[in-house]
Amino acid sequence: MSVRIAVGAQWGDEGKGKIIDLLSSRSYLVVRYQGGANAGHTVKINEKKFILHMIPSGVLHENTVSAIGNGVVFDYESFISELDTLKMEGINPEGRLFLSPYAHVVMPYHKEIDRALENSRKNKIGTTFKGIGPAYQDKISRCGIRVADILDKDYFPIILKNNIDLKNQMFEALYREKDKFDFNKIYNECLEKFEFIKKYVKDVSIMIDEAYNQNKSILFEGAQGTLLDIDHGTYPFVTSSNTTSGGVCTGTGISPTRIDSVLGVMKAYTTRVGNGPFVTELFDEVGKYLSDKGHEIGATTGRPRRCGYYDALIARYSVRVNGISSLALTKIDVLGGLDKIKVCVGYKYKNEILKEFVPVSNVLEKCEPVYEELDGWKEDISEIKNYNDLPLNTRKYIDYIEKVSNVPVEIVSVGPERNQSIFK
Ligand code: GDP
Ligand code: IMO
Ligand code: MG
Repeated sequence: MSVRIAVGAQWGDEGKGKIIDLLSSRSYLVVRYQGGANAGHTVKINEKKFILHMIPSGVLHENTVSAIGNGVVFDYESFISELDTLKMEGINPEGRLFLSPYAHVVMPYHKEIDRALENSRKNKIGTTFKGIGPAYQDKISRCGIRVADILDKDYFPIILKNNIDLKNQMFEALYREKDKFDFNKIYNECLEKFEFIKKYVKDVSIMIDEAYNQNKSILFEGAQGTLLDIDHGTYPFVTSSNTTSGGVCTGTGISPTRIDSVLGVMKAYTTRVGNGPFVTELFDEVGKYLSDKGHEIGATTGRPRRCGYYDALIARYSVRVNGISSLALTKIDVLGGLDKIKVCVGYKYKNEILKEFVPVSNVLEKCEPVYEELDGWKEDISEIKNYNDLPLNTRKYIDYIEKVSNVPVEIVSVGPERNQSIFK
């Protein structure tokens, strides 16, 4: 029995979907704790590719129960469309997929507001337009609508009317658009969709408590990554939730004393989608090599991901703020073929060398990477199953990552498929 968190250790897209799917076969329950349909988690099984935005990545295992915790902002459109895609592949998770009644709902107006705000920003964040910021904004402003509120026939029309009046006033004042959002349209759409969704609704905190008391293994699935955390990330170029391990307790209703370990999912290099500082970003042929060989295209928005070398300052920071006990090091196969591989071990800032990450975008923008250089390897490692069969230079790279990141590597991922994983 174990209670584990799998958290993205960089800027998202580290391969969490793959690793969570891999670990799900040994887990009874897999729970998402934050974020929304901005997540794009890819699971590849025998050449079949599933991209999950709302539904936890454990869903492809028939014996695993999946749950969406209260900390998630629930996108009903995305949820229903993912269920349809799964059903087309012969997967029907009814009876083993649940949604917290206390999750806030992303309403159609949240997506419109997301787009309008982003368009009016001078310093664009590059959001996914999934309504994440505005939905969390309403939650914190105490005017949000939760799953349980929609299921309450008397309360829902009142709270929806209040919200729509407010959003319409805002749109008229800011963008001179009158009656932008139509109450009846949104009201009827929600009633129809939630009539279908209500069978999935169940108290997730109680489910977790029961599983824990029965000594069953529980895995928490992070979305986005540490540097997109609203508190610990590269603010303001972040998402609107606590992506770090701390978000698990508030986002699901488990107590911190019950968590055994935290697995950091970390790419063997670094990527970022959207705007914001990125000290090790590459604009040369190595950056292009990583982008092409790693197929670095966003799973949610289709935007190209920016690519760069591994950053040990980010790694140590992530280990610290998440309490990471071991790493799943992914996409190391992508580095194969490079003559030399650089690892960032310091930041040159003005006249100093910084040895620790500073989560301040204005400082990071002015930092230059200080690199150590390692020898690369030419072999294709994607079919290797045993750690000791990896080329010497690959093992040396992993040893070096462990040393500079201050954490052991537990899983080495050498390809997108479940079986392309080596337990060290
Ligand atoms: P997530 O958001 O953290 O779940 O990551 P994404 O699914 O957005 O992006 C990771 C991409 O890398 C996906 O296309 C995966 O199929 C792929 N992938 C995951 N692990 C590996 C690996 O070890 N090697 C390679 N080559 N691809 C991988
Ligand atoms: P997964 O779970 C990578 C980025 C967006 C943008 C910023 C804010 O697949 O790793 P938002 O729509 O959340 O308000 O956008 O966060 N972002 C992600 N980048 N992977 C993700 O999720 C992301 N989710 C959001 O690109 O820069
Ligand atoms: Mg992703």
